[in-house]
Amino acid sequence: RKSVWRLSTGSSELDDVLAGGLESQSITEFAGLFGCGKTQVAHQACVNLQSRENIFADEEHISEEEIENAKAVYIDTEGTFRPERIIQMAEAMGIDGNKVLDNTFVARAYNSDMQMLFAEKVEELIKDGENIKLVIVDSLTSTFRNEYTGRGKLSERQQKLGRHMSVLNKLADLHNCIVMITNQVSAKPDAFFGIQEQAIGGNIVGHAATFRFFLRKGKGDKRVAKLYDSPHLPDAEAIFRITEKGIHD
Ligand code: GTP
Ligand code: MG
Repeated sequence: RKSVWRLSTGSSELDDVLAGGLESQSITEFAGLFGCGKTQVAHQACVNLQSRENIFADEEHISEEEIENAKAVYIDTEGTFRPERIIQMAEAMGIDGNKVLDNTFVARAYNSDMQMLFAEKVEELIKDGENIKLVIVDSLTSTFRNEYTGRGKLSERQQKLGRHMSVLNKLADLHNCIVMITNQVSAKPDAFFGIQEQAIGGNIVGHAATFRFFLRKGKGDKRVAKLYDSPHLPDAEAIFRITEKGIHD
């Protein structure tokens, strides 16, 4: 079993909260309201995967050859993947945006069946020799939320989500991949705290994700990422910015 390697988020504060960046063999979740920056964080990860200085690893973790040829799969359930944004972020770092796009497989999923199938296909791609090191699902829950409405469908939805999460976990574990998921939130009344925001998917998603963040807007271009419920790390907050350059301190 190989030890973990890490990928910078673009923000050193956020990397610090993660004890060194996005971790392989784990699922990292970014949840938050619309416009808080989940999709931007996901785009930046695809760009950073193509930049050696943003990968923290040595030979025993991941070989230089694997780093050199690392590829990402971006499962896009909302049609919000933007090639031109990838190019803009890449150019801001002085790297070739077209190289990033060549090494990012974008799969547009129109429903939860397609989404689950694409996650399963990643395993096949890897077996066929594709060096996939980053798997993104943006967003994890929107298709499920649209298709399984009402209380009566909840257990079916959760079962399916659970299967999806276990496929993602397997990819992370068996192939030393970083898995990143984005998620929406719902507001729930809470006796002590008033309205509490919660990531969609309940315990099924909660237990499968190793690192969970709530993202929220700060002043101007600032964003606040709060890590919570992590088994190994303390709850902590990081502030970063989203500008035309991408995600940075
Ligand atoms: P939903 O998918 O709707 O739930 O939102 P999200 O959390 O994915 O938000 P997203 O990542 O799409 O963030 C959108 C925000 O990022 C915008 O409101 C801008 O503040 C910022 N943003 C996106 N693109 C750019 C850009 O090219 N330049 C700058 N300066 N900011 C950008
Ligand atoms: Mg989004």
